[in-house]
Amino acid sequence: MEDSIPHSRPTLGQAEADAAAGVVASGNVATGEKTAQFEKALAQTVGAEGAVATSSGTAALFAALKALGVGNGDQVVVPSFVCTALLHAVWATGAEPVVCDIADHFNLSPVDVRAKLTGRTAAIILPHIFGTPAPVEEFLHIGPPVIEDCAQAVGAQVNGAKCGSFGAAAIFSFYATKMMTTGEGGMLTSSSQGLLGRARDLIEYDKKSDAVRRFNLKFNDIAAAVGLVQFSRLDEFIQDRRRIAATYDRELSGLDGIGLAAPAGSVYYRYVIEVADAADLILELRRRGVMAARPVDPPLHRIVGAAACPNTERAWKQAVSLPIYPMLTEAQTRRVASAVRQVVY
Ligand SMILES: Cc1ncc(COP(=O)(O)O)c(C=O)c1O
Repeated sequence: MEDSIPHSRPTLGQAEADAAAGVVASGNVATGEKTAQFEKALAQTVGAEGAVATSSGTAALFAALKALGVGNGDQVVVPSFVCTALLHAVWATGAEPVVCDIADHFNLSPVDVRAKLTGRTAAIILPHIFGTPAPVEEFLHIGPPVIEDCAQAVGAQVNGAKCGSFGAAAIFSFYATKMMTTGEGGMLTSSSQGLLGRARDLIEYDKKSDAVRRFNLKFNDIAAAVGLVQFSRLDEFIQDRRRIAATYDRELSGLDGIGLAAPAGSVYYRYVIEVADAADLILELRRRGVMAARPVDPPLHRIVGAAACPNTERAWKQAVSLPIYPMLTEAQTRRVASAVRQVVY
């Protein structure tokens, strides 16, 4: 039997190992010069005034919410079809998550957000889900500040502008399987110096004698050194993902009973297809050594006991995420596509 094909894999090499070793040898392993360089690199790419590196994407979301003044009694809009990190970040501020349905390409529905708006809505968290740009402009007009969640979308663009450059703040994740990785890690970007200053203050308790609540959510220079190398490879990673997506598009088009991802401008963090029964296809693919997965499980409205989100329920039932990452070879991509064709025809 051929080796199984994992669902996700980081792309790391000797350059990352050498960069990490250099920092270890220097002895300056905490938050320092490398972290500052990494922050500057991402802020410049996104077109933001500055950035604050954090220990995770969830920490960056929490810091962004706190820096916007979100807390007890507030509500924060989140989509249902996303990982639970968003719930945890909102809960940690004391605010209440308001879970909304999705619309095109699995992204948040502006219509449902407007329907669920109240006088207590303090922020909207807007993921560019699976690397597909959300229609940000439609959310900016709604009213509450928008935090763009670019955890899956570093490098993606909307109408020629970088995802992350629109909202009051944006957050990123560098978890092992993300577009680029530092093992764990995250970043907050913004063009508001005030917001950046409040976020930086929140994640650093040292040498402060007031009674403001803070928490150590800082990044470190070993991870930053790896991140700088990964960052220099980001364009290449995106090209690789788009090439793999094009192969899937070609190999899978024309099959009855399959909906293909065709999102403009996506960086293809995930390649998600829709079939009648996701559970069945995932099982059959795994039997054939292809580690497909549900892209989100479970949806958030079920966790918080919110009213049904019909589009999200349909997506949960039908969506299957196929392996996609720069290390996936052309032969492996064809093997995945051929396995899908054996099951869906
Ligand atoms: C859309 C989205 N937002 C936020 C996060 C949280 O990032 P982290 O795992 O680095 O805390 C993730 C991670 O899975 C994510 O996919």
